[in-house]
Order: sequence, then C-alpha cells, then structure tokens
Amino acid sequence: MWLNIKSFEEYKDVYRQSEEDRKKFWEHEAGTFYWRESWDKVHSGGFENGDIKWFEGGKLNITENALDRHLNTIGHKTAFIFEPNHPDSFRRTITYRQLYEDVCRFANVLESKGVEKGDRVCIYMAMTPELIISALACARIGAVHSIVFAGFSAQSLAERIQDCDAKMLITNDGLRRGDKHVPLKDISDEALEECPTVKNVIVCQRTNRDIDWVEGRDEWWHMLIRNASKKHTAVEMDAEDPLFILYTSGSTGKPKGVLHTCGGYMVYTSYTFRNVFQVSEEDIYWCTADAGWITGHSYIIYGPLFNGATGIIFEGVPTYPDAGRFWEVVEKYEVTHFYTAPTAIRALMSYDLDFVKKYDLSSLKVLGSVGEPINEEAWHWYHDHVGGGKCPIVDTWWQTETGGIMISPLAGITPTKPGFATLPLPGITPVLMDENGKEIGGNGVSGNLCIKHPWPGIARTVWGDHERYLQTYMSSYKGYYFTGDGCRRDEEGYYRITGRVDDVLNVSGHRLGTAEIENAIDEHPNVVETAIVGYPHDIKGESIFAFIICEDQPKNKEDFKKEIHKLVTKIIGPIAKPEKIQIVAGLPKTRSGKIMRRVLRKIAANDLENLGDTSTLLDPSVVDEIKEGEAF
Ligand code: WT7
Repeated sequence: MWLNIKSFEEYKDVYRQSEEDRKKFWEHEAGTFYWRESWDKVHSGGFENGDIKWFEGGKLNITENALDRHLNTIGHKTAFIFEPNHPDSFRRTITYRQLYEDVCRFANVLESKGVEKGDRVCIYMAMTPELIISALACARIGAVHSIVFAGFSAQSLAERIQDCDAKMLITNDGLRRGDKHVPLKDISDEALEECPTVKNVIVCQRTNRDIDWVEGRDEWWHMLIRNASKKHTAVEMDAEDPLFILYTSGSTGKPKGVLHTCGGYMVYTSYTFRNVFQVSEEDIYWCTADAGWITGHSYIIYGPLFNGATGIIFEGVPTYPDAGRFWEVVEKYEVTHFYTAPTAIRALMSYDLDFVKKYDLSSLKVLGSVGEPINEEAWHWYHDHVGGGKCPIVDTWWQTETGGIMISPLAGITPTKPGFATLPLPGITPVLMDENGKEIGGNGVSGNLCIKHPWPGIARTVWGDHERYLQTYMSSYKGYYFTGDGCRRDEEGYYRITGRVDDVLNVSGHRLGTAEIENAIDEHPNVVETAIVGYPHDIKGESIFAFIICEDQPKNKEDFKKEIHKLVTKIIGPIAKPEKIQIVAGLPKTRSGKIMRRVLRKIAANDLENLGDTSTLLDPSVVDEIKEGEAF
C-alpha cells in the first residue's frame, strides 16, 4: 500500500500516515526485504541519548538483498554499465549475475586474507566496477568498508586508515581523471608508512604504470581472484551491525568517521531511491557522483541495486575530452534519469550551448540535483537545455549523516519550484528552530534546520568517538537532530536550504571544515595564524578565502601562495586550496578569543557596508586594517 507513491494526493496521504505511526510505516517498508530472521523491535532510542536503533535483532546480509534476491528474476539484467574516463577506452556491462559472482569471488579472497566480520577495510580506488565489487564484498563478509575518495592526499588517507585501524587497503596502480594521472599506489605507499595496522594491500590494475611493490604485503587483484570460487555464503549480520564508515568534515577538528549500520540504511536508501526518482524496470539511471562520497554509496551502489535498477559507473569528468561529455554519454546509453551536482551544471553552463545541442537527450525523463543549493539560473538552464523543458528536477537535500535523501520532490509528482528542495519525504519531520532553541511554527519563516524524530538511515555514531556524535548533532537542540543548515519555509510550506550555519564550507559540492584547512596552512613556517571563510563563487558555489598572519612579510606573494597551495594539497587534497589569500596583521577576535568569522565572510564577499556589530571585538581597529588590505 505504501510502496510506490504515484500522485501528489497519495504523497500527502502517506506523509500523514507516516506521522501518525512512524514505526508501522517503516516496518512495512522493511517487510519488503529478505531477512534471515525478523527483528524483535522496530525502533528504540532517540536523540536525547543518541542511542538510535532500528529493526534490532533482525538478521540479514545486505548483499543478499542487493544481489542474491535478484538472481532468479533479473539475473541477466544489466546492473552496471561502465563508462571509462576516455570515451575510446574499454567499456563493459555487468549483469546482476556477473556482479553477484564477482562479489562472491572477491569476498572469498578477502576471507582468505584473514579479513573477518567487524574488521575495517579501506578502499582508495578509481571509479570502476572493482570499487563497487570491493565495497559489496566487504559487506558480504561483514567487514566494515571505509571508502576514501581518490582525490585525497597521502596524509588524509593515512589519517582515515589510522582512525579506524583498517586491516587492509584496496587500491589501484593509478587512475586517470580527465587529462590528469593520479598515482594511487605511490600515494598509498606513502600513507602506509604511518599505518602499521594494514597487513595486506590488494592492487587492481588500471593504468599499467610502474609501481613499487612490497613483497608479502602487496598482491594483484587479478591474481587473487583467478582461482576464487564464485560462490560464497554471506555472513549473517544484525540489523544494527556496522556496514560502513565514511569520513566527512565538521566545523572543528579532524574529519569524523560517520558510521552507518546494515538494516536501517538498507530500508532507507531503498525507499528513498524508488520514490524520489521513480525509476522503472527498463530505465537507465546515471548518478555522476564518485563512490567516495555518500551520494555514491547510497545512490550508485546500494539504493539502485536493492531496486534492481540499471546504473552507470562513470570514471570521468564533465569536461573531458570536452564539455559535451555528459551529454554524449546520455545519448549513447539513452539515459532516462540523470543525477548530478549544481557545480557541474554551472561549470557546463559557461561553455557554448552547442555542446548540449549536439546530442539527442530525448531519452531523459528525470533530472536530479544534490550537494549544495542550486541557484535559479542553473536550475533553468538544466531544466530548459538538458531536460528540454519536460523533465522534473528533483532537488534532493540530505547529508552524509542522514544516509539518504530527506527533503526532495518525488519526480513528476511533487510540484517543483526553482531553488527549493520542496517537501520532506514520508517519515521525515523537519523543523525550524529560533535562536532560543524553540520550534518556529507556521509558514513564511526561517531558522536552523533540525529533524524531530529518528529515521532508519541516520548515522548511529562517529567511529571511536560517540561523545563527538552527541556533541555535533544532538546537543545544540536537546531532543532534536541538528543538520548544521539554515532553511526557509515559504508561504506554501516549501523548504529552501540556504546553506551551512556552522564553520563548514561547501566548495563545488565538497564539504570542507575551516579548522582542517587552517591547521594545514598553520604548518607553513612563516604562518602564525590563519582564518578560513567561504565566499560566493559563480561556479564552485563557494570558494575559499584565507586571512593569514605571517611571521615575516613574504618577499614574493605569488610564491607564498604557491607554497600554501602545495601544503594544503599535501595535507588535505587539491580541493582545499584557498583561491584567495590576504595577509593581515591581526584577526578580528572576541574577548573570549573566538574569531568573528561573520565579519571576515563579509569582507571576503566584498560586502564592506554590512559588517554588522563589531563592538564586542577585542580590537575593532583590526577590521579597518583588513578592509584596506588586498587579496591575491
Ligand atoms: C551538506 C551535506 C548529500 C549528498 C552530498 C553532500 C548541502 C546537500 C543540498 C541541496 C542545498 C544541500 C547542505 C548539507 N546540501 N544537498 N539539495 N540543497 N544544500 O553531502 O558532504 O554530507 O554535505 O550539503 O549544506 O548539510 P555532505
């Protein structure tokens, strides 16, 4: 009765029912999966104590629901089409049965290397089918996968491996992204110098370049799977057993290992995928994300596989070999559902429209957007030129921590409005909070976005630091989950996400913490202190501005900037490089020593008239000095 919402009336009806009895609603959805044993309790715990559980006592293996369950019905259906970085390279399709066999083979390999239920395995790979096979093989044997985006530096990789004490690393010799080559094995070797817990490294061949080899530690993927059996009995998991860790930036300290568990994540990603995208059997669904981010986890790997969809694994970038790459792929595979980030749309908008017009995009039925607010101009360009004016756009708001989509139109069902994520999915209760921590009722209001009741897909903890989990999400508003986002609810009750209200930046849809970047820059011998803020950027959405206090005035500013870029690239990765730097004598600090970032944000945005109240600053004159300075 609740499985597939087909009309706006039905949506409203189902939403109301879900509010009346949340447990019944999610229990019904959970009942559509294959469980080896049913749960004892649908749900327990809450935001007060941060002890949320769903389907506790239920026994399952998530890969039996993604793969085994489909073998007799759609075993010959294509699960994935692999589109390589270069359009002329080898492409292939993988059926559900082949994927199942590949996952079983690799699960046997992992077990033969001594990986056991509960062990952590780090995956640092190119966006190829083997990345997905690796993750699913972990899930099959009950190991916890931790995928690290293959754009992060050796130091970031090492930090993540150390944080979760991973036992094994799976990587490639290298990868090509656009015209760039990334030496993944070299980077891994460097990272592993600091990671004594990693006993085995499995290397999957991709670029065939020369690499160093550590005997006894490193082994080739293709050698290991050669004799592995294509049958594997999945390990039984409890619904609340860990499935994966994914690191994401917060406003303070090092990245957090967000932990998702098996049962609730399965139910939530499956339900949201089906209802938001309205994918049907013969559709071709393409999410352009990398599996190194949550979007890839939930809406390339898990959500689509539970539903037996055909997805595309894309190794490339939007502008290589040229700015028509996305549309060439859409035409080639007759893609029906296309899900990307506003930053990609804005980047492509800056090229000649002929790159779009050249291709037949008539197969498209639904367009999706994720990762950051989509501005109206980009929304219209996407709608008119890509969707030919006929495809609904689903602007999906969610987070690494939410596991799946939370506020979004249902494609073709919810009336859309440019810039609005529109309405919450059934089972989700968004609320806006005022500065006194009280819920703001009614419409035509703005506040900080919280969620009132737990849902199955919410992260259960921060790996190794439950206190930080409670502190970050459950302490700002007692009894609520705090998202870190600001939000407006318009006269019609539609939600529009206005952006982060904490010290988290969103650069080209990538989440970065100001503290992380500051700490990296502070490593420079000539740097005394740094303050990072974001400022509006036409393509990236937000770009990085660094205010730096130097020990000695750098002799050559351009050289200094290069050094800072090199340092940040080494410590975090190239995405965290500040676009603008200004050397300052002091930073605006309150009497308690906190940097007043709102003032710096205004200066970075060149909005010098509206700096707001600066009377609580320890030394208001620093602001005048900064205003007069120049960025480079
Ligand atoms: C933050 C979460 C969810 C997958 C990718 C990002 C921003 C995300 C939207 C949207 C406006 C959005 C929020 C959120 N965000 N989607 N549709 N409209 N803002 O996951 O890296 O965990 O980042 O991305 O600020 O808090 P993430």
